[in-house]
Amino acid sequence: MAKILVTGGAGYIGSHMAEMLGEVGHKVVVLDNLKSGKANAVLSAELIVADLANQAYLDAVFAQYKFDAVMHFAGLIQVGESVIYPDKYYQNNVAAGLNLLNVVKKFAVKNFIFSSTAAVYGEPKYVPIDTKHALFPVNPYGKSKLMFEQILADYGNAFGLRSICLRYFNAAGADPLARIGENHNPETHLIPLVLRAACSEDGSIKVFGNDYNTSDGSCVRDYIHVVDLCSAHLLALDALLSGAKSNVYNLGNGKGYTVFEVIKAAEKVTGRSIKFEIHGRRAGDPAVLVADAERTIKELNWQPQYPDLETIIKHAWQWEKKRFANE
Ligand code: UFG
Repeated sequence: MAKILVTGGAGYIGSHMAEMLGEVGHKVVVLDNLKSGKANAVLSAELIVADLANQAYLDAVFAQYKFDAVMHFAGLIQVGESVIYPDKYYQNNVAAGLNLLNVVKKFAVKNFIFSSTAAVYGEPKYVPIDTKHALFPVNPYGKSKLMFEQILADYGNAFGLRSICLRYFNAAGADPLARIGENHNPETHLIPLVLRAACSEDGSIKVFGNDYNTSDGSCVRDYIHVVDLCSAHLLALDALLSGAKSNVYNLGNGKGYTVFEVIKAAEKVTGRSIKFEIHGRRAGDPAVLVADAERTIKELNWQPQYPDLETIIKHAWQWEKKRFANE
């Protein structure tokens, strides 16, 4: 059993992670400011409501728990918003993260897992994208995540902090028991929006662009089940706790689906017809993002359990139905 701090553990991915860590027997403390996270998404871990900007408070938490590892999920995630308010992104994703790292250093925590993103690659030069691909993020969100990866590497060299950065492609799906799931406000992600369109009589999904150079003209993305993301984090944690060196891995299934394929799969899963409207391209969207995660599979011994798009959508659908029933 290890003592793990999960920052952002009341958010979408962090809440699934906190639960999985508890299930395998770790002591889990979630730290979340609840600005976008939800207290009721923390199913069984201990929840501390605090902001990473409050360094004195972080000191007290670290002194009390003596963590073996930190998993850092807290951060802002909207690409479009990051272009309008870069200050918010550098403040939250870099400066607040640095506060956390200073406490990590002070209390000599040596293992750190960071929630990074495919956005660090920018416009792909080739697909599938492996971790050797050039790093040219094209928006402040991706830049803030890359800066933090670089800070971690420097802390590793100077202070012996070992870190694993996990670059997510498109996280989707929900807890298979529908206890927790995706709940952003505003929601900008394709699968929850498609499912909401399926729920409403007159709702429709906007398709951002049908003139890309892809099989049907819409963008291609690599959707990865949130449970599979979390299982990779668990393997990364085991690796670090057994002395593995710092590393960077991609998390994706290596298979892309167009927006129209996602809509079709959602129609099959929900048994409803889903209306769509064609809109112009969304600024900053690459045509195709697909991961090469072969190294993750080999080195971490990662085996995604739910690579199938319909299963990903089915779990998201079970969660959406439950959420709407409770609203
Ligand atoms: N899309 C639509 N209509 C919508 C929403 C999305 O057509 O209403 C399209 C987008 O244009 C894109 C695809 O559906 O082609 C997926 O869009 P999402 O917003 O669900 O996800 P992104 O690929 O934009 O973003 C994901 C992560 C980000 C990360 C980014 C890396 O959610 O955190 O990949 O590029 F930064």
